[in-house]
Amino acid sequence: EKGGFDHFMLKEIYEQPNAIKDTFRGRLRVAEGIVKISGVEDNLQKFMNADRILIIACGTSWHAGLVAEYIFEEFARIPVEVEYASEFRYRNPVIRPNDVVIAISQSGETADTLAAIKLAKESGAFVFGVCNVVGSSISRETHSGAYTHAGPEIGVASTKAFTTQITLLTLMALRIARAKGTMARADYYRYLQELELVPDLVAEALKSNDNVQAIAAIYKDAPNCIYLGRGYNYPVALEGALKLKEISYIHAEGYPAAEMKHGPIALIDERMPVVVIAPKQEHYDKIVSNIQEIKARSGKIIAVVTKGDTQVKALADHVIEIPETSDALSPLLATIPLQLLSYHIAVMRNCNVDQPRNLAKSVTVE
Ligand code: F6R
Repeated sequence: EKGGFDHFMLKEIYEQPNAIKDTFRGRLRVAEGIVKISGVEDNLQKFMNADRILIIACGTSWHAGLVAEYIFEEFARIPVEVEYASEFRYRNPVIRPNDVVIAISQSGETADTLAAIKLAKESGAFVFGVCNVVGSSISRETHSGAYTHAGPEIGVASTKAFTTQITLLTLMALRIARAKGTMARADYYRYLQELELVPDLVAEALKSNDNVQAIAAIYKDAPNCIYLGRGYNYPVALEGALKLKEISYIHAEGYPAAEMKHGPIALIDERMPVVVIAPKQEHYDKIVSNIQEIKARSGKIIAVVTKGDTQVKALADHVIEIPETSDALSPLLATIPLQLLSYHIAVMRNCNVDQPRNLAKSVTVE
């Protein structure tokens, strides 16, 4: 049942190229130059007229929502707010009729997300679900939605659900951007073509496994770890830290790289591993200077870089290469080595990878 893998988590990490293809199926039509998601087509006017998109989710799904915030704002120029469902539901939030609410949930059963959806519906907002489990409570409670089609995710730590959520939300943003005319035609076609390459690029990123395992062996006994990223990869830093916490029980924190100097940099010394997501993209020079700041305080740098990178390589203690793609799609690749890193560290620490302590696959109680 684990398909030759030691754990469901590893199997699911390796399923990602195919899971992403399944998310694309019938929707990403490069030859025709279109993206077609029936739930979006049926409600295109609502998305086009949205004054704001509110994304509600928990945990890893909330991180996918943060990536989507950057993508929707860039592509479709719609203001986005990403909310923890548990905070949203108890806050007396301002929800206006022209707000579109997107609820993201792998299981479709998360109690707080479900309650937040009900609240949003009472306020008259249109609520769209992004779920993995077909027929789940959230998929039934929302007005419309689209499934990620990642297939069953058994490991408690979410992996393929995350990358397929980002994939689906990216497709949605492209469709809406095209309809609204907020993205140049040439850019739109280029994204369709680049998206189609993503499954192969994820497969290539998975080839970092042996290198990541060797790095895991060096840091497996670290009591703490910091993850840094900027822009589209800031949420990936949060997700990398969450994966490490939940399955290896190492205290980890994710930060936007430039926030370091506002406090967390005080934590840096020669015992602190810092995972920096530093692909060649906009603000690359900024992340290079963030790395220099950490090096100056003797922190240990594990950098995720674009294949062929030289500048970060010269500074970092370890580098993990990912293939080149456009900035907006880079979270789909940068996530892969971070999943593998947490997996290998957890295995080396004899942790129960698929069933971490204190956690349940679907959180149906608040
Ligand atoms: C992390 C993880 C949790 C879930 C969260 C939301 O690996 O699995 O943080 O992401 O409980 O669950 P869903 O997406 O089912 O609503």
